[in-house]
Amino acid sequence: MSTFVVLGASGTVGSELARGLEAAGHVVRRTTSRTPAAGQVHLDLVSGRGIDEALRGADGAFLLAPPGFTNQDVLLMPVIDAARRLGVGKLVAMSAMGADANPEAPLRKAELALEASGVAWNVIRPNWFMQNFHTYWLQGIVTQQAIVLPVGDARTSFIDARDIADVGAALLQRSEFNNRAFDLTGGEALTHTEVAALLSEALERPIRFEDVTPETMRPLLLSAGLPADYAEFLLVILSFLKAGYAERITDAVPSILNRAPRTFVDYARDYREAYPQSATR
Ligand SMILES: NC(=O)c1ccc[n+]([C@@H]2O[C@H](COP(=O)([O-])OP(=O)(O)OC[C@H]3O[C@@H](n4cnc5c(N)ncnc54)[C@H](OP(=O)(O)O)[C@@H]3O)[C@@H](O)[C@H]2O)c1
Repeated sequence: MSTFVVLGASGTVGSELARGLEAAGHVVRRTTSRTPAAGQVHLDLVSGRGIDEALRGADGAFLLAPPGFTNQDVLLMPVIDAARRLGVGKLVAMSAMGADANPEAPLRKAELALEASGVAWNVIRPNWFMQNFHTYWLQGIVTQQAIVLPVGDARTSFIDARDIADVGAALLQRSEFNNRAFDLTGGEALTHTEVAALLSEALERPIRFEDVTPETMRPLLLSAGLPADYAEFLLVILSFLKAGYAERITDAVPSILNRAPRTFVDYARDYREAYPQSATR
């Protein structure tokens, strides 16, 4: 039995990862930047509070930078430093597919700091999550029956966040893949028109894809409450998606988990309840 710290443990990936580690018999410290409830420990990446307390005596930790921030290196470096100082055995950090394309990108700087830390590490770089459709893009689906995005007919090898969590948990518990980075994708690359058709089938109501310009998308992101710099960051990575950079399929999930990745049909079936019929439900 080991003790693992899970950042973002209330979030899409971290909640599944924490569950998986507990199911395997480990002790999990679920961090929160809010007032901790039972079973949680306080760790705020912005103020730096709680980092040492959360990590002290842990065997490993799962790291992520919360969405909404564009200074991921500034947020994560104190955690990496503390893990080295306190002798944490292993760090698994979630980055994003494509983050290694630019050495100056904050997420890449965080990856490089981890690689140089002397702590055993893995970086996982997932592609766009399937779960985004019932989180980030839910409002358009519910109010306009449409996925509204500036991505044209580019394909994306969407990954189910549950597979990311399974990979993260496996890497924390196993050492044979130590000190390697993995681009994590699903097993098929779909257009957003195909995604809309699969969602229509699963939800038994028509959902369409509406291709828009970045100029149309920008106010939608801002009115959803995103900070301006994060909205611009999202528009940039959506333009990479549109240019085809998210279509690549890797064998990382099957090679680490020894099974096929979940499909979009699996996702749509399992998350039907996350899509209300109308905004008022
Ligand atoms: N969505 C995608 O398609 C995609 C693709 C590739 C990579 N990613 C990466 O995935 C990460 C997001 O993962 P996710 O979707 O699983 O997260 P999420 O569901 O958005 O949850 C964010 C988590 O961060 C925690 N958090 C918020 N503020 C914090 C702070 N100041 N200090 C410490 N923790 C804080 C939140 O918990 P509390 O509020 O309790 O603190 C929450 O558990 C991002 O780094 C993103 O770049 C996403």
